[in-house]
Amino acid sequence: NNSSLSTTTLVEKYMRSYSLLASAKINLYLEIIRDRPDGYHDLLMVLQSIDLADQIDLRSTETNTIQVYCNHPEVPQDHRNLAYKAVAVMAEHFPHAFAKYGGVDITIHKRIPVGAGLAGGSTNAAAVLVGLNLMWELGLNHKQLQYLGSLLGSDVPFCILGGTMLATGRGEYLTPLPAIDNFYVVLAKYRSLSVSTAWAYQTYRHQYLHSNVSNTSATRHPKERVYSGQIMSAIARQNQMQIYQLLHNDLERVVLPTYPQVQQLREEFQRLGCPGIMSGSGPTVFALTKSQAQAQQVVEAVNAAISDPDLELWISQFTNSSIRVLSFDN
Ligand code: C5P
Repeated sequence: NNSSLSTTTLVEKYMRSYSLLASAKINLYLEIIRDRPDGYHDLLMVLQSIDLADQIDLRSTETNTIQVYCNHPEVPQDHRNLAYKAVAVMAEHFPHAFAKYGGVDITIHKRIPVGAGLAGGSTNAAAVLVGLNLMWELGLNHKQLQYLGSLLGSDVPFCILGGTMLATGRGEYLTPLPAIDNFYVVLAKYRSLSVSTAWAYQTYRHQYLHSNVSNTSATRHPKERVYSGQIMSAIARQNQMQIYQLLHNDLERVVLPTYPQVQQLREEFQRLGCPGIMSGSGPTVFALTKSQAQAQQVVEAVNAAISDPDLELWISQFTNSSIRVLSFDN
């Protein structure tokens, strides 16, 4: 009959699916330059993709709805999810494509810890933008995708490109840096701990930056000057020892005093001769090692020193790409 014929036609013509891998990031360097009138901060960051990744499956549906499914209980499965918002931004900018291909089911297989300072939500949104660009045959270039990404969050443009990047502005202006070879990353996070990024930046603003309010408060400390040029020349020279010594994150100044567990993790890495720093607004702490064997030793030593079932450790590696298509069915 007619209705089954039209359904078959729709299925044959429009049912499409894409599976993508979406990598996490770490901040090798994060310096807060100034506060801005829009509430954000101008930053200078060195961002690095690592191969710890979520899998994102996109499937077109016959309805005009957006559905999110995720295996992690703390990830919202509705309009609050950044991956959902990414579909909404694409639908708003390309209403004809949305009408043609119908709704989208998004399934997120979470491996990147949530609320961790590793851009897990941002990289999921980046995967949706890259995936829908292909699924809806839009032919958008990186610049256009990065613009759409910047509407969703400060780290999304980086997550579209990945690799090793200098990021300025809110984090959306990106300059590629030479790829860094051969580092393994040990990541440590307390499962039950997460830090609000907005809280971390606002607290830093109150404590350390000169704002419009006159700087008379005794609690306000002068901004430390840190020199980002050094880490960039260390990267250009592939000087691993120097890269290691120049790791820096301004947000530690507010997060470490408030979260003693993060401070304790940092001290534990230091004690092992493998100093770690916090990624993004935390609470994940990471350290770099030159070999997988050394990374494994660090994991075992940290686990032995802090034997807490709430503590999770991962070993990962630097990677030059962020979003990768695993498979598709057009
Ligand atoms: O851009 P995104 O939504 O990821 O940022 C989350 C929060 O982090 C913002 O609401 C803002 O408070 C803070 N932030 C900031 N300056 C930046 C990036 C983020 O103050 N450059």
